Amino acid sequence: MNDPPPLRTPTDATTEAALRVGVELGPRSYDILIGASLLEAAGPLIARACGAKPARATAAAIVADTTTAHLLSEKLAASLGAAGFRTATVSVAPGERSKSFSTFQEVCEALVAAKIGRDDLVLALGGGVVGDLAGFAAASLRRGVRLVQLPTTLLAQVDSSVGGKTGINSALGKNLIGAFHQPSLVLADTSTLDTLPPREFRAGYAEVLKYALIDRPPFFDWLEAKRDEIFAGGPARAEAIAECCRAKAAIVARDETETGDRMLLNLGHTFGHAVEAVTGLDGSRLVHGEGVAIGCAMAFRFSAGLGLAEPSEALRVEAHLARAGLPTRLAHVPGGVGPVEGLLEAMAQDKKVKDGALTLILARGIGRSFIERGIDRSRLRDFLAGELRPNG
Ligand SMILES: NC(=O)c1ccc[n+]([C@@H]2O[C@H](COP(=O)([O-])OP(=O)(O)OC[C@H]3O[C@@H](n4cnc5c(N)ncnc54)[C@H](O)[C@@H]3O)[C@@H](O)[C@H]2O)c1
Repeated sequence: MNDPPPLRTPTDATTEAALRVGVELGPRSYDILIGASLLEAAGPLIARACGAKPARATAAAIVADTTTAHLLSEKLAASLGAAGFRTATVSVAPGERSKSFSTFQEVCEALVAAKIGRDDLVLALGGGVVGDLAGFAAASLRRGVRLVQLPTTLLAQVDSSVGGKTGINSALGKNLIGAFHQPSLVLADTSTLDTLPPREFRAGYAEVLKYALIDRPPFFDWLEAKRDEIFAGGPARAEAIAECCRAKAAIVARDETETGDRMLLNLGHTFGHAVEAVTGLDGSRLVHGEGVAIGCAMAFRFSAGLGLAEPSEALRVEAHLARAGLPTRLAHVPGGVGPVEGLLEAMAQDKKVKDGALTLILARGIGRSFIERGIDRSRLRDFLAGELRPNG
């Protein structure tokens, strides 16, 4: 007689329904799983991916912000507990200002106090702020412990949880202190997006569009057709997230530590980070994805002004962002962005500045972005001055 088929558990069904994207980095390769209710299935998935030792209860320290801790940490801890993990939760205040030295110190001390050892795990449960902060803590604690990313914002599911960049901000600029530390697994539970405030969802959409603008013209056409479905939460949402992860995984596999092609992922970010910096990282005025939206629109207008892209392409990008409810102009930032000098100074702190020369990601059209080194400062100054004019 044949053996009866193995009993199916909800975990099997959840995992089988999930989309899988591999990040191919030799010994640091890992999977991204995208699908509904993955947090409920997290315990066994993490145990399998991280080879948790059954002889000793591996500890899994959940780092969250107070919002994601309240909404999601119990569910995650229950799944981890059932899989045999010892759990601890560390939470920080929500928002960009938690990517600071003082919060980093608090998280590291809490992980030490929770006796997280080299064989244990740090789990980042939240948006990009938690992912970057917890990731940097995992990279630093005892010179590096394993990390699992559990992104809960659209932005984190399509971008920040993938690729291993972790870090915090300095008073002089964003993301200036950090480390490359690849996760062992990324679980993007699309059900978590149901509670995400609409403004944060829109902000994440700016990063979705970014991938299309870099090198995927067909994805841009698809997004023009599917944008409403993605916002409504239909099946196109998970497919869009998976396509972004494929795009990012391909670039990261070519250039893990950003010596070349990976810079393309910064499309819109040099302008965007500068705008974020001059607003004092005040999320009530501007969140990161909104800065990226303005930055992408500016990168296309700058490219059009240099005669690289057709002005109609810049208008098409701007119209798509605007229809998604995103800001596209400096004038859209509540409270304004101050003078040209402040923006230029903030841009000079960009990580891509080399020997004082600024590098920007420019475009010859939608899906035709490229890295331009040695940007002419006077042209940039003129462009920013034009953008700051009332009808700019
Ligand atoms: N490491 C990278 O490669 C990379 C890439 C892109 C962006 N980033 C970083 O990501 C950060 C921005 O990330 P973000 O936009 O996710 O912001 P965030 O982490 O601040 O999250 C936005 C807000 O949504 C809340 N939230 C999160 N998940 C929720 C949920 N499921 N339901 C309800 N509320 C929820 C958070 O508490 C927060 O208030 C920036 O610091 C940026 O520099 C990093």
